[in-house]
Amino acid sequence: MGIRADVVVDLQYGDCGKGKVSHHLARTHSYTHVLRYNGGCNAGHTIFHKGKKFVTHHIPAGVFFGIRSVIGPGCVVDPERFLAEIRGLEAGGIKTKGKVFIARNTHVITDKHRKEDGMEKKIGTTGRGNGPAYRDKYGRTGVRAENVPALKPYLTDLYDEWFPSQGRTSGKKDVRILAEGAQGFGLDVDWGDYPFVTSSHCTVGGAVLNGIPASSVRQVWGIAKMYETYVGAKKFQPKGDDIFNKIADAGEEYGSTTGRRRQVNWLDMQLLEKAVRINGVTHLVFNKVDVLRAVQRWAVIDKRRVVKFKNEKTMKDFLLKRLKALGLSKNRVFFSESKETI
Ligand code: IMP
Ligand code: MG
Repeated sequence: MGIRADVVVDLQYGDCGKGKVSHHLARTHSYTHVLRYNGGCNAGHTIFHKGKKFVTHHIPAGVFFGIRSVIGPGCVVDPERFLAEIRGLEAGGIKTKGKVFIARNTHVITDKHRKEDGMEKKIGTTGRGNGPAYRDKYGRTGVRAENVPALKPYLTDLYDEWFPSQGRTSGKKDVRILAEGAQGFGLDVDWGDYPFVTSSHCTVGGAVLNGIPASSVRQVWGIAKMYETYVGAKKFQPKGDDIFNKIADAGEEYGSTTGRRRQVNWLDMQLLEKAVRINGVTHLVFNKVDVLRAVQRWAVIDKRRVVKFKNEKTMKDFLLKRLKALGLSKNRVFFSESKETI
């Protein structure tokens, strides 16, 4: 009997392909639970399951494999959108009954939150009510899922989930959790570029806040792209080089939640290294190698300078060398060039 957790965490500004990696890990490991640990329906996870495209917002990737999929109290839930997502999955042939749960102490996004966020201009939020819902949670004026009748069938208590023999339900099984984050390190409320951040904890610390004992964390899967994208009000994409527009086109860099065009820049080594260190990353996936291959430009930003590479191999070797210095050996770094697997 015991509890073990692996965490999937985005090392940049969201949209690095966490959904794909979580889906892959859920398929290839034997998890008893997949947990969504932060964020609300501001997140959009694009997942290809058996060749079919799904976009999820709240519900973790475990649902595609009949694994208990729980939304933790680090999240905020929009009841209407949650129920619509359930219907969408069912319509796509995914069984959700008895598989999808919301922690009873998770806060909800109300109409008022959505309206307020819809008028927001300074940060360029997704307008989904995320920020106002977290503000009310911390201001102690929020509403919890356990007080919303429509969510009753989905409620659970995470103490019972993580410690089945102690809580109300009995069970002797090992608990193996895949904790799937939303957004990313660069959008984290503490570590991101404040105020151009989201209102939740996007680091591994955010996963642990959902009742996961810190000592149970095993693998930490950091997810990055071979370049960076950001959506929001601040200026991010450098002017004067059409390459970034080409990358955006080749990479289909449009938000899966709002459809907004994502701004593009080269991968920033200092952000990557900081995120690897602070999250304690043990495995790293670089997604979208195929996109830089399509445009045939290879570069990173290192100490505020653009460093260009001759070809794919020299860029990969550079990244591997830098990560090795952080204790990440070559066999734990993966370069992915497919939408469906790593
Ligand atoms: P909010 O999370 O809707 O409050 O938005 C705050 C900032 O985070 C904005 O710049 C959003 O574009 C960005 N953001 C929120 N969720 C995501 C996401 O899932 N992917 C990428 N950016 C996001
Ligand atoms: Mg996304």
